[in-house]
Amino acid sequence: MAAQTSAQPDRNLAMELVRVTEAAAISAARYMGRGDKDGGDQAAVNAMRAFLRTVDMDGTVVIGEGEKDEAPMLYNGEKVGSGRGPRVDIAVDPVEGTRLLALGRPNSIAVIAAAEAGSMWRPGNSFYMDKLVVEAAAREAIDINDTPARNLHRIAEALGRKVEDLTVFVLDKPRHQELIAAIRKAGARISLHTDGDVMGALMAAIPGTGIDVLMGIGGTPEGVLAACAVKALGGGMQGKRAPQKAIEKERLAAEGVDLDQVFDLDDLVHSDNTFFAATAITEGSFLEGVRFDRGKDVVTTESIVIRSASGSVRYIKGIHQFRRKFDFEKIDAEAAASASS
Ligand code: FBP
Repeated sequence: MAAQTSAQPDRNLAMELVRVTEAAAISAARYMGRGDKDGGDQAAVNAMRAFLRTVDMDGTVVIGEGEKDEAPMLYNGEKVGSGRGPRVDIAVDPVEGTRLLALGRPNSIAVIAAAEAGSMWRPGNSFYMDKLVVEAAAREAIDINDTPARNLHRIAEALGRKVEDLTVFVLDKPRHQELIAAIRKAGARISLHTDGDVMGALMAAIPGTGIDVLMGIGGTPEGVLAACAVKALGGGMQGKRAPQKAIEKERLAAEGVDLDQVFDLDDLVHSDNTFFAATAITEGSFLEGVRFDRGKDVVTTESIVIRSASGSVRYIKGIHQFRRKFDFEKIDAEAAASASS
């Protein structure tokens, strides 16, 4: 699937993929604050899978819910789409921020990305990754091997701002104590979040969201997903494997993997033809969550749709007539029946 070369408008796959994230978000939103991480995730997976069938593409899940034996649906290697149309790699997270959704906290999203077949990095046994993300104007200023302070000074200079006026998104995890101390010492502001660094990366790569930089260690699959958006936005991103779990360290050591390797955007996704769609499930300062309060049988969603070939970014407000609200229960029931057969 080549990027657009003729003057004729062509297809923006992300405009179809957003229906998939909208469906996942609406279905998962029923679980907000109910303390049921798995229930919310399963509802989103079921809805995504049902809607993915309607998209004309020959997709293979590269970043999914896990390996086939642990994830009955949207597992790595699963074929998705109608089978007709472009061959693409798919990265998907039906609920990015399962805990956020279960606790009714802001910024859980349903998210999907597509890129030319074979172009997304397969992280294998690398579960965690250090990440540094900024908007386009600061993309030449980042160096993940350098200190947080020096990065922040260069980013501030590139953006024509003071370090004190930068806001850094950091996951609120014990592993980030030193990082947080270093950012504070440098004088920048910090926005701490328990989960959801795909949203953090997105906000860092888009000017004017209230977040200027994403720093710190999060999931590697989330890193590849985020890279598809950051690349399309022209932002800057670097990553580096940062194993946290004993099993992860053992496996990477056994494979002789170079932990010092720096991944830039092209390493994470080498296609220049990436598509990204995300729909908010719970409220956020950047995207409004799924709302059921806009009238009888109406549900609203807010999504962002990004495409690299054209550089287009769309914010889509969905107003869904919810007369078919029980369809999601039907989809769940069908998925449960096919899983047990
Ligand atoms: P889930 O949706 O899978 O729960 O992931 C949420 C998340 O916060 C990601 O945004 C982040 O990359 C990763 O988990 C961090 O992992 P951990 O919570 O194990 O530190």
